[in-house]
Amino acid sequence: MKIMVINGPNLNMLGVREKDIYGLDNLESIEKMVEKECKKRMHTVEFFQSNSEGAIIDNIHRAYFEKFDGIIINPGAYTHYSYAIHDAIKAVNIKTVEVHLSNIHSREEFRSKSVTASACIGQISGFGKIGYLLGIYALEKQN
Ligand code: DQA
Repeated sequence: MKIMVINGPNLNMLGVREKDIYGLDNLESIEKMVEKECKKRMHTVEFFQSNSEGAIIDNIHRAYFEKFDGIIINPGAYTHYSYAIHDAIKAVNIKTVEVHLSNIHSREEFRSKSVTASACIGQISGFGKIGYLLGIYALEKQN
């Protein structure tokens, strides 16, 4: 499979931001872990991170034009209010898994609602960086 891993706003600050919630690893080391697992499982993988909604949407569109088979996305706080990202996932019709490091259902009320998850095949939340690996396995099951 050709997989795209997209991380949204503030995820470039992993390892610095709220370590008790998001862990000690930075995004680069998480991406390395995902890359290693993808290699082992014969997938190709590309990573993208942006703090901007439009750039994330452009990249979801790119996944369509460049024929990706699956997307793993952590939309960060956009999860909770970006109908535009929801629509972009719907538009490209690529199997997409939503991942959250933290358990969004056990935190502040506003985090428990995801407007993007219903455009995805499923949501993984609360397992830290391992969630990205679970995302790979979920895509394999669906393809
Ligand atoms: C997050 C959860 C979101 O509520 C938050 O805004 C993030 C990270 C997570 O991975 O747990 O930026 O998506």
